[in-house]
Order: sequence, then C-alpha cells, then structure tokens
Amino acid sequence: MKKIIYNLLIITALALVVTSCCGEHESQNVEKMNTTMEDLMTRRSIRSYTDEMPPMEVIEEICKAGTYAPTGMNKQSPIIIAVTNREVRDKLSRLNAAVFGKDNDMDPFYGAPVVLVVLADRATSYTWLEDGSLVMGNLLNAAHAKGLGSCWIHRAKEVFETEEGKAILADLGIEGDYVGVGNCILGYVKGDYPQARPRKENYVYWIK
Ligand SMILES: Cc1cc2nc3c(=O)[nH]c(=O)nc-3n(C[C@H](O)[C@H](O)[C@H](O)COP(=O)(O)O)c2cc1C
Repeated sequence: MKKIIYNLLIITALALVVTSCCGEHESQNVEKMNTTMEDLMTRRSIRSYTDEMPPMEVIEEICKAGTYAPTGMNKQSPIIIAVTNREVRDKLSRLNAAVFGKDNDMDPFYGAPVVLVVLADRATSYTWLEDGSLVMGNLLNAAHAKGLGSCWIHRAKEVFETEEGKAILADLGIEGDYVGVGNCILGYVKGDYPQARPRKENYVYWIK
C-alpha cells in the first residue's frame, strides 16, 4: 500500500512538472508571436539616420536573419555584401545616384552608415529574384526588431552591372551570375518615426 501511494505521488509530481513546463512554453510562444506581429506592422522605411555605427554583433545578427529566409528548393541563391566601410558605402551611394542621373551631392542612402547589398545568382535558381526579395524582407524586419532603422533602396541591379560594381564583386572573389536585388540600408533613426499609411481597400479577398 505504501508503495502504491509513493508511486502515485511520484506520478502526480511528474505530471505537475510537465504541465507547468508546457504552460511556460505556450506563454513564451504567444509572447514571441505577438512581438513578431507587432514588429512586422510597425517597421517603416527610414529616410533619415544619425552617423552612429551600430554594433557589429547587431549587424551580424541581422545578416544571419537574412540567411534564414526561405529560398526556392533551398538553393540559397542570394548573397549579402555587408558594407560598413565608409569609402565603399560612399562609392555605392554615388553609383546608385548616377543610375537615376543625380549628382554627387545626392545620397540615396539618406546618410545611413551601413548598406547590406543583396544579390542573387541567376544561374543557381530560377527563383533568384523571389529568393533575394525574401532575404531583403528578413533584413528589413530583423533590423526593426533589433531597434535599427532600415529602408530598401533600389537600383542594385544597375549598380552591379557597372564596371565599378563588378570590380567590388571580383575583389571579394565572388563568381557566378549575380544580379543586384536590393540595398538594405541600416542605422539609428534620426528624427520622428514615420507613421504607416492606411492600407488600401480590398487588399485581401476571401474565398471561404
Ligand atoms: C522593391 C522596393 C524598392 C524600393 N526602393 C526605394 C528607393 O529606392 N528609395 C526609397 O527611399 N525607398 C524605396 N523603397 C521603400 C518604399 O518606398 C516603402 O517601402 C513604401 O513607401 C512603404 O513605406 P513603409 O516601408 O514605411 O511601409 C522601396 C521598396 C521596395 C519594396
């Protein structure tokens, strides 16, 4: 009899431990989900930055989030060139401005100190553009989750078709049919945080 009571006590104790662990995980998951949803909806394109360089570990984490984006057939066709070097950042800005005929005074990177260039290898996968775009999305959202401002700046395609753009890839030993997808600029937000503009009517159509 004593043994039965003892066993019952052990089973009850184990059941209590398991239930409390699951409960904890569940509430952690709900919390994480809420934060993710909030981050997705509060990220905005930032067009004014301070000069302050974010910590390297934060930039690395954001890049890591980029590498975890889904890719067609897991071909992982994109690459990220993380530019924190001022000279190269300024060169990319100049090349970018030149694409739309602006002079040297115009900085399409809005003063952001970091540029994460996403390119994707056209030869690796026919979903290279979708793959690269999802990497861009991850970078933008991860930056926001890490408290940094970010913005997609276009014309990476044209920039990496120039001789100077090609030379940047060659210097890094990058070979392949890489096409520029986008530039994710990063930095600390200067000034007011922008508000989201209203979503258009009929964005979502339901078939229930
Ligand atoms: C493919 C693409 C290209 C973009 N190119 C630029 C750009 O060159 N310069 C810029 O200031 N913003 C650019 N943006 C940012 C959009 O203007 C911005 O996402 C849009 O106005 C919505 O604002 P939000 O990101 O704050 O929600 C681009 C966004 C996407 C998705």
